[in-house]
Amino acid sequence: MKNITDKLNRPIKDLRISVMDTCNYRCPYCMPEDKFDENYQFLKPQERLSFDEIYRIVKVFAGFGVNKIRLTGGEPLLRKNLPELITKLKSINGIKDIALTTNGQLLQKQLPQLIDAGLDRVNISLDTIDKDLYYQMSGNKGHLKVVLAAIESARKSSLKSVKLNCVVQIGVNDDQILSLLKKYQDTDVVVRFIEFMDVGNKNGWQKDSVLHFKEILQHIEKEWKVNAIDPNYKGEVAARYKYQDHCGEIGFITSISKPFCRDCSRARLSADGKLYTCLFASEAFDLRKHLRNEDDIFLKQYIQNVWQNREDRYSEVRHQLKGRKDKIEMYVIGG
Ligand code: GTP
Ligand code: 5AD
Ligand code: SF4
Ligand code: SF4
Repeated sequence: MKNITDKLNRPIKDLRISVMDTCNYRCPYCMPEDKFDENYQFLKPQERLSFDEIYRIVKVFAGFGVNKIRLTGGEPLLRKNLPELITKLKSINGIKDIALTTNGQLLQKQLPQLIDAGLDRVNISLDTIDKDLYYQMSGNKGHLKVVLAAIESARKSSLKSVKLNCVVQIGVNDDQILSLLKKYQDTDVVVRFIEFMDVGNKNGWQKDSVLHFKEILQHIEKEWKVNAIDPNYKGEVAARYKYQDHCGEIGFITSISKPFCRDCSRARLSADGKLYTCLFASEAFDLRKHLRNEDDIFLKQYIQNVWQNREDRYSEVRHQLKGRKDKIEMYVIGG
């Protein structure tokens, strides 16, 4: 194995792969319905990387030290035969952890096959446990009951971890924090609050809608005693907290108030095979073109060059780049 580092001396450890650009939800903060309507042109099936192509790419990345794979979307469970891909990826030398980020609507039925194939962990989006608000926040597509049942199945399964992602927006779901915590505080399901980020150009992000980590924490501390705990590994995205009097864990993803670019070892691959070196990137590297025309030696050299020239740290320099209109959309790279 040949470990490589970027211009800020960061290794590459983690590859987030979008397997599907479409979604069964229309969350206003990601795919607002008026912009992603029935006329919207999503990728054609042949434009998406095949499982064999993804396998080839992951083998190259594993050779550079990537040991974590996260499957994302859009909604990854819309991709047919996903367990087949998981089995293939699991067989690659060096790949230790395969996780999935999903909205959970299609999870329950697919869970046994996903686990059999080797899925290690799942992160499920859950912005509220209020039925009506949930429906509204999914763009009138998602049913809370179905997702809560999937969470129950996941937590009783052999998965190594189940985490919930709540994107907090002032005036939308900032009053939902305590109820969400209460529901899971005596379980091993980790509830994580994400500062609403300015990903993409279509979600109408405003800094006034972001509830900062410190404010969320203060709100929680009025109710319960919590203490910070160490990260699971260097560069973990979420800051971790434990309750003093409950067994549950809380996480905070603080891209706005406390950026974590310094240890960012993540690369992202879109469903059509474009490589992005930052969640907020505007430049894409077309791996599909090279995959379909070149051999693995070329591919290796190409990926190595991309990573060694990387100097992204968008969250740290956000204020200087205000108003950039060419950022990649969230649904293309799945966060
Ligand atoms: P694990 O820690 O491995 O469980 O995964 P994760 O938290 O990185 O993955 P998940 O897909 O659940 O993402 C949770 C939130 O973190 C999403 O809003 C992502 O967009 C955000 N996130 C993940 N990685 C990064 C990153 O490198 N930069 C920024 N700014 N946000 C990230
Ligand atoms: N800011 C922060 N998180 C977001 N997500 C989607 N859009 C945003 C945004 N603008 C979250 C989803 C999902 C994860 C992959 O990213 O809710 O949990
Ligand atoms: Fe919502 Fe996730 Fe689908 Fe975006 S990809 S619309 S955040 S469920
Ligand atoms: Fe990594 Fe870019 Fe996120 Fe910073 S903003 S942590 S560089 S993906």
